[in-house]
Amino acid sequence: MAQSETLRDKMLDELKDLYHAEKQLIKALPKLAKAATHGDLRSAFETHLEETQGHVSRLEEAFELLDEKVKAKPCAGMAGIIEEGADTIKESDKGPVLDACLVASAQRAEHYEMAAYGTVIAWAKVLGQDDLASLLEQTLDEEKATDEKLSALAESDVNQQAAGGEESEASEEEDEPELVGIGASRATRRQPAAIGRDAGSSRQGAKTQKIPGRGRR
Ligand SMILES: [Fe+2]
Repeated sequence: MAQSETLRDKMLDELKDLYHAEKQLIKALPKLAKAATHGDLRSAFETHLEETQGHVSRLEEAFELLDEKVKAKPCAGMAGIIEEGADTIKESDKGPVLDACLVASAQRAEHYEMAAYGTVIAWAKVLGQDDLASLLEQTLDEEKATDEKLSALAESDVNQQAAGGEESEASEEEDEPELVGIGASRATRRQPAAIGRDAGSSRQGAKTQKIPGRGRR
């Protein structure tokens, strides 16, 4: 039977998980930087690598605040996100489309971290560990700022270049970049409108098929 654990135990587990996640990112970010063609994107990854080293130090401080040993627990979530990013790099040529995919991949990692830090901070507060909460809030703010920087880069430049540098509606003969997430906003925002129009016309089609049938009875 599972031992009953306290919220403090679970918070400690989350810290160990985050410690492993950040350590994995320290290895992954240089690969993202190397794969990036866009200069600002490359330097965003390099800057975040430096910040990530600080996040590891803050987590070590967090263990200290709790009088616990610094320990990592395998973080399968981040491992999966990083593996997907590595596959994309392997399968793609360097250039604007890969840059857009690198943003998407990095934002998945950022959102994972933001969720995890948000949880730990909330638990630290409810457990009366305000010093721990404010320490990790500094990291959460940096993760959020990186996420926003990546969105701004994607929306102002990277996605447009990936789409072929065209200003107007995406041309139909061109493949849409296969992206999801905030970084993909320009590509995906157009799709719901197109789907809506299609759905509208097929609804109309169904109506015209039924009405004559009813009329014949
Ligand atoms: Fe981080």
